[in-house]
Amino acid sequence: MANAYTNRKLSARYPLDLDAWKKLSSHYRDVMRDKHLRGLFSRDNKRFERFNVASGDLLLDYSRTHVNATTRKLLTQLAKQAGVPAAIEAMFAGDRINKTEDRSVLHVALRAKIADTVALETPGVSEVWEVLTRIESFVDDVHGGKIKGSTGKRFTDIVNIGIGGSDLGPVMACRALRSYWLDGVRFHSVSNVDGTQLVDLAQELDAETTLFVICSKTFTTLETMTNANAARAWVTERLDELAVQYHFVAASTNQEAMDDFGIRSDFRFGFWDWVGGRYSLWSAVGLSLALVVGMDAFKAMLAGGRRMDLHFRQAAMEENMPVMLALLGIWYNNFFAAQSQAILPYDNRLDRFPAYLQQLQMESSGKSVRMDGKPARCDTGMIIWGEAGNNAQHSFMQLMHQGTRFVPIDFLLSDSSDLAAANCRAQAEALMSGTGDEDIEPYRVHDGNRPSNIIHYAELTPDVLGQLIALYEHRVFVEGVVWGIDSFDQWGVELGKKLAARQG
Ligand code: F6P
Repeated sequence: MANAYTNRKLSARYPLDLDAWKKLSSHYRDVMRDKHLRGLFSRDNKRFERFNVASGDLLLDYSRTHVNATTRKLLTQLAKQAGVPAAIEAMFAGDRINKTEDRSVLHVALRAKIADTVALETPGVSEVWEVLTRIESFVDDVHGGKIKGSTGKRFTDIVNIGIGGSDLGPVMACRALRSYWLDGVRFHSVSNVDGTQLVDLAQELDAETTLFVICSKTFTTLETMTNANAARAWVTERLDELAVQYHFVAASTNQEAMDDFGIRSDFRFGFWDWVGGRYSLWSAVGLSLALVVGMDAFKAMLAGGRRMDLHFRQAAMEENMPVMLALLGIWYNNFFAAQSQAILPYDNRLDRFPAYLQQLQMESSGKSVRMDGKPARCDTGMIIWGEAGNNAQHSFMQLMHQGTRFVPIDFLLSDSSDLAAANCRAQAEALMSGTGDEDIEPYRVHDGNRPSNIIHYAELTPDVLGQLIALYEHRVFVEGVVWGIDSFDQWGVELGKKLAARQG
């Protein structure tokens, strides 16, 4: 089933020897390096209409970036020459594109409909809908009071125990969808190994009404197992040994370890080796989210992810939002030498989205060796950071406005607050235009010419959240294809885990 992407052999200098890469280098040097964004706008009052991409409920406005028609043409040529269209098809076909782990990469199958026929013959894919149905009936039974604590009381508090993708996804999404929380249910999370999160939570929780969701693909991760064992001790001290069977549910691929912990078989929800930790929110790792927001909202998030998948598969390169977002990232990273990128949501409910993207992008793209084992020939993943917008304005934005560093920004903007929108647009405008030619003291001078994207949506619904997450997942993939790296392994983190286990 392998296609042109799966079989590709990278040349020694890849991607620097691609014709489009070379043309982009000269285009940068001869044309764009000295262009001011203010000038690009003043020469073209249709810039906004010409430099945006729409998909579903999202609009990516990249008019405030150093892009003209030639840049866009060369960037999309780069995507084509790097084999992005074939790579997209290889992923959806279930090819083993995670080469170093010899695995398919099929988080897209978790949100597909059967009729989409996404890699149905890959082992595990046909079980996706069965697990989803089991999750649905578990969630409904908890909400309907059929599944209760060991003393017969209904669950009011859901505690997610996990780390990395088994924590950041549920935490980010639960916060983002706060207005969808069902009455009488609260969400909490425990991730760090020092134990203090659980100590603090224990002050406010009642063991009789608390359900712990242990999320761990491997069920061996030191932090998660330490916290799970501490929670287990807390429950058995307050209730009894039998209570473990009522108060612990798990999302994992490790049956044996779940046996050892005492998770009963109908309280286990599996997933597959083709779901990477940082791409796992769509799987049983989303169980605590589903318990807090309900199955309708959870399924709406899956539907949003699927909408972005369909767009990603079907849209031409220049109209393809994840592809364009990735290419703009490459443009600033590899040609303008930006070392970092900031993600600033002007929507407080997305305050953990930058942290979520830090793992997604930096664990995926933090590589210096290509898929074929040769050294990467260009810089790969940028440092990702950020904060909810207004907080950022009053902490680190000064550096972005007048500092010596060059930091491209993604603003995320909803229509829900006029004031927040006005602030966001004002920041983007100030960064782009600066102070102009006024005769003012040097310390007041703001040169402007600092680029940003605005990703706009009307309201942060579960569907929109699904689209946003899938947008960035695919962006990461496209960048990795162009650089020739494996975006789905994390050998550096694995080494840290191994050494901690030895010393622990
Ligand atoms: O941090 C590395 C990592 O492997 C992540 O990719 C993953 O999300 C996390 O550890 C947790 O792993 P697990 O779900 O197996 O506990």
